[in-house]
Amino acid sequence: MHGFKPLCLGFGLALLFCAPAGAAPLEYLTGAGDKAAPVVALTWGVIAISLCVIIVITALLAAGVWKNPPRAIIIGEKTAIGPEEGGLNWLWIGVGISSLVLLFTVVWTVIVLAEIQAPASKPAVTIEITGRQWWWQIHYVSGAGRDFYTASEIHIPAGEVVRLKLIGGDVIHSFWVPQLAGKMDAIPGQINETWIEASKPGIYQGQCTEYCGVEHAEMLFRVVAQSPADFHAWWVHQLLAPVSTNGRQAFVQNCGRCHSMRGTAATGTLGPDLSHLMERQTIASGALPNNARAIAAWIANPPAIKPGTLMPAIKLSDGDRAGITNFLLAQN
Ligand code: CUA
Repeated sequence: MHGFKPLCLGFGLALLFCAPAGAAPLEYLTGAGDKAAPVVALTWGVIAISLCVIIVITALLAAGVWKNPPRAIIIGEKTAIGPEEGGLNWLWIGVGISSLVLLFTVVWTVIVLAEIQAPASKPAVTIEITGRQWWWQIHYVSGAGRDFYTASEIHIPAGEVVRLKLIGGDVIHSFWVPQLAGKMDAIPGQINETWIEASKPGIYQGQCTEYCGVEHAEMLFRVVAQSPADFHAWWVHQLLAPVSTNGRQAFVQNCGRCHSMRGTAATGTLGPDLSHLMERQTIASGALPNNARAIAAWIANPPAIKPGTLMPAIKLSDGDRAGITNFLLAQN
């Protein structure tokens, strides 16, 4: 057991330093937006109150022990606990103060919950997010024939309210972007509505927080907040037809029953929509960076990278594999 402590320390350090590059690690002590600000203030407030309570109780306990040092208990001797005749009843004074502190934090919590219940302004965008084993399907709803699907990366306009509709595609998942909003479950058969707002452009890391199967930990996502102009340009770009290369046919034949790509005959819905894949920073719901090497490795053997994934290792000729990889790499 000598190695246990160093092992724990190593594991802790690994957790600290292994956050994916380019995005802040899951962080809930700072926030960026109308919804997060009151929650972050409450978090710090409760931490401060708790620390004060610990300090005061420790001081009182130490003072009590110092004033009345422990002594051997003599059986049959009357012990003098409780208020002195005519003195203050410190026990009840302590209970009263503790109750007031607790009541204050409860009231503050209820006020914050009411404050973040509904946004101050009308949502600019509605996004349907479906948790799937083990990735997130993102559906941009416009109602004007400009809908589209993407996966595991949620672009939003900074400074604007975004309405989210959360759905469980198979089992219960939970959506959490700590810097923007608290957790909300994605449950099969119902739609849970919530909202987010990012005050400034940036990338906000998110994670599924309801155990949903073996790859629960590899169900990451990112919220990419852009200036409204950049966001609308991104949306228009998403609607562009795919870039054709000679791997297109191999992609449609081998991948099209599970994956979609807008503007091709690939219309599968089991796996992520791969339109404009190269706009994304990661693949496999944050398990891999999005580059040629990772895409080739993923296509060759997904279960080796993400055991339990529903995507099997498909037998492909060398030509088809190279063609599919090149076709995907062309989709920016
Ligand atoms: Cu999805 Cu945990």
